[in-house]
Amino acid sequence: MEWLNEILNEISKCSQTKDLELLRLKVFGKKGLLTNEFSNLKNISDDSKKQVAKELNDIKQKIESILTTKKSELEEFELNQKIESQKIDVSLFNSSLSPMYGHPINIIFDKIIDYFVGMDFSLKYGPLVEDDFHSFEALNLPKFHPARDMQDTFYFNDSMLLRPHTSPVQIRTMEEGKLPIRIISPGAVFRRDYDMTHSPMFHQVEALVVDKDKEVNFANLKYILEDFLTYMFGDIKIRFRSSFFPFTEPSAEVDISCVFCKGAGCRVCSNTGWLEVLGCGVVDNNVFKAVGLKDVSGYAFGLGVERFAMLSYGVNDLRSFFETDLRLLEQF
Ligand code: DAH
Repeated sequence: MEWLNEILNEISKCSQTKDLELLRLKVFGKKGLLTNEFSNLKNISDDSKKQVAKELNDIKQKIESILTTKKSELEEFELNQKIESQKIDVSLFNSSLSPMYGHPINIIFDKIIDYFVGMDFSLKYGPLVEDDFHSFEALNLPKFHPARDMQDTFYFNDSMLLRPHTSPVQIRTMEEGKLPIRIISPGAVFRRDYDMTHSPMFHQVEALVVDKDKEVNFANLKYILEDFLTYMFGDIKIRFRSSFFPFTEPSAEVDISCVFCKGAGCRVCSNTGWLEVLGCGVVDNNVFKAVGLKDVSGYAFGLGVERFAMLSYGVNDLRSFFETDLRLLEQF
């Protein structure tokens, strides 16, 4: 078989997986060299057929095993080359590099925080690993409420969990008992969700205002949210839609006119012209009871930072925020 040595030689010299595949086809393809030898078997006399077939099979195994070894060598080599070529030397100074890119989530966080700090809110942070009391019980989410479901929340055991919202910070702040309260709480939250618009870890900003007597009311809430949403999204329409949250009464969801179609109706707003952006309400009396506050009133709201970033930047897959792909981040 005069071609055998030549092919083995070509395989050993081959330096790219795609060329190796061509060589494989040259031998094993439909009209390949070895395939031809096998089809010629029928022209061989019966006495030597068995011997020739055995030899062909030996050759077949030999070439296959050489190809397998060569393929993994080349793959490893190509992978190393790729890693090498994409390496970033973080110590290298290059004046042509842009000074810094902000992550879109951080940019939006900063923009939100700037607004509320300017409105005399202070920042308050809470633990990511929370207990049942602060996450649910004190927020008037009774046992067996569907939001407590294992489907939605990551539990460590019966009483400890990864907080599924920033609302526990409301409870921790009120427990300190100092009035007036005027806080926002930015931070990560966790839910068992994963698709274009949900990720198991995302970020919220919670706000809580509490003062004595009837000094804090829905009108204050409405005013600040309208001002805030105009600051975030510019020239938009805003509507309050009555809704339900266990920790507020009355409660509302707030919609803005679609930032993409300006309210005409498009795919993003499901042709409604409106986008839901946050939940809010007047703090339910049961929440005050749970933390031992009396004769006070308050309002609260909570919003998803990724949602704000998606709407601000026209990003349609939330998961791309967490892929740490510089090509995406460089756009901000
Ligand atoms: N905790 C709610 C959620 O994660 C958001 C929310 C709604 C927070 C209404 C609030 C509120 O403070 O008043 O979906």
